[in-house]
Amino acid sequence: MKQKIVFATGNEDKMKEIRMILSDLHIPVLSMKEASLSAEIVEDGATFEENAAIKARAVAQLTDAIVLADDSGLEIDYLNGEPGVYSARYLGEDTPYEEKNKIILSRLQGVEGTARSARFVCAIAAAVPGEELQITRATVEGQIALEPAGDEGFGYDPIFYLSEFGCTTAQLTPEQKNELSHRGKALRRMREYLKNYIERTGE
Ligand code: IMP
Repeated sequence: MKQKIVFATGNEDKMKEIRMILSDLHIPVLSMKEASLSAEIVEDGATFEENAAIKARAVAQLTDAIVLADDSGLEIDYLNGEPGVYSARYLGEDTPYEEKNKIILSRLQGVEGTARSARFVCAIAAAVPGEELQITRATVEGQIALEPAGDEGFGYDPIFYLSEFGCTTAQLTPEQKNELSHRGKALRRMREYLKNYIERTGE
């Protein structure tokens, strides 16, 4: 059987990042749509890990492929960790990010320096036929910017400021972002496991 990975997301921005990061596995990485799979998944976990596991398990019931799922989001310390696991739904699922980002900036008005600390978090779950579910997690630490900047990336990237780079994650090239991002790091932590499984089970 020819190996493939199905990534349990409908988010094309994420798919671009994921394909780049997993390109050296040399097997196709398909979105749910490309794999002609659909599932109504209720992400009601309390943590990123739980939600990633829920997604991976649900999609694994529909295919023999290797299934990967991620759950990610932004934690802002001043807002007690919000939006956290609600990052996609925060301030309304259909509200444009330009608006969401403005609202967040207004909520942090007058908050200075390290009090603006925040992090992107990503948990990745891998469901592989006949194996125990694997989960990795990674974060990238930053601060909420004073104003939005940059057109790369997606979501909250224009307001996520990396002081060591002096720019937001929306001002990094896709390669730079993948190098340091929560998703890049969590996926690379999973890559060895996947490589090993692919080698063991062959074509
Ligand atoms: P998920 O699809 O349930 O994992 O929702 C993740 C949400 O978190 C996204 O819709 C974005 O709002 C936010 N998010 C996660 N990763 C990133 C990132 O790399 N940049 C910007 N926003 C992100």
